[in-house]
Amino acid sequence: MNIIVTGASRGIGAELARYFVAQGHQVLGVSRNGDAMETIRAELNAASGEGVFHCLAVDLTRDSALEAVSAFIKSEWGRVDRLVNNAGMLLHQPFGATNDAQVQKMFEVNLLAPGRLIRRILPYLQEVKKGHVVNIGSMGGYQGSAKFPGLAYYSASKAALASLTECLAEEYREQGISFNCLALGAVQTDMLAEAFPGYEAPLGAAAMAKHIGHFVLEGHEVYNGKVLPVSLSSP
Ligand SMILES: NC(=O)c1ccc[n+]([C@@H]2O[C@H](COP(=O)([O-])OP(=O)(O)OC[C@H]3O[C@@H](n4cnc5c(N)ncnc54)[C@H](OP(=O)(O)O)[C@@H]3O)[C@@H](O)[C@H]2O)c1
Repeated sequence: MNIIVTGASRGIGAELARYFVAQGHQVLGVSRNGDAMETIRAELNAASGEGVFHCLAVDLTRDSALEAVSAFIKSEWGRVDRLVNNAGMLLHQPFGATNDAQVQKMFEVNLLAPGRLIRRILPYLQEVKKGHVVNIGSMGGYQGSAKFPGLAYYSASKAALASLTECLAEEYREQGISFNCLALGAVQTDMLAEAFPGYEAPLGAAAMAKHIGHFVLEGHEVYNGKVLPVSLSSP
């Protein structure tokens, strides 16, 4: 399969790339940090052969990122089987100290960029019979879950992504494209360390990526338009 993973330079996204390649799939990683993705590319190509991991060093909030992704798909793949909107931005700040520019930037990364990428690759998802888009949400944005000070807008951005997922599943049901959102609990990554300094998560990025990866490949067989909590802990 051809799988796009955003936020593949580190954390859960990097481990997702490793998981998919180990399962015999091709991955396009999309993140800003080209050096980090080149390191992953060298590792994966050495282990599994040339051309299993491709990467584009782009900022997903810019139109040029969409152009680069489109150009890659047109010239290399022609179709996309899976999209994982994993790239995310954290804003950890008391609500009263936030300013709109920061909030707008975070919503760009966490909500608008996934939406734009979905729109852009819809024709390529329609090329396959059962395309699956998985949006990576958060327990913070899951209705009724425990909430934490300093994460109000971050949680709101993930709640919006969850809602977008539910709506798109209905809108594209007839075209055979499935949309699901996984609301993650704590995973030991750089982002978690920033959100909850000193807290130790019950699982690491590789363990979570294994679970997410399996869901991305097969979850649409039994779920569509769902927002699913994937969490061992609070946070
Ligand atoms: N870790 C947790 O406990 C936890 C819990 C709930 C939800 N999540 C969600 O899970 C996802 C992955 O989290 P993580 O912990 O692995 O985070 P992370 O280590 O901070 O990684 C975030 C990734 O997003 C990419 N990214 C951020 N802004 C970008 C932009 N403008 N354009 C392109 N790429 C961008 C980063 O790459 P570059 O810097 O190279 O661009 C990086 O690869 C996120 O959506 C996060 O909100 C995580």
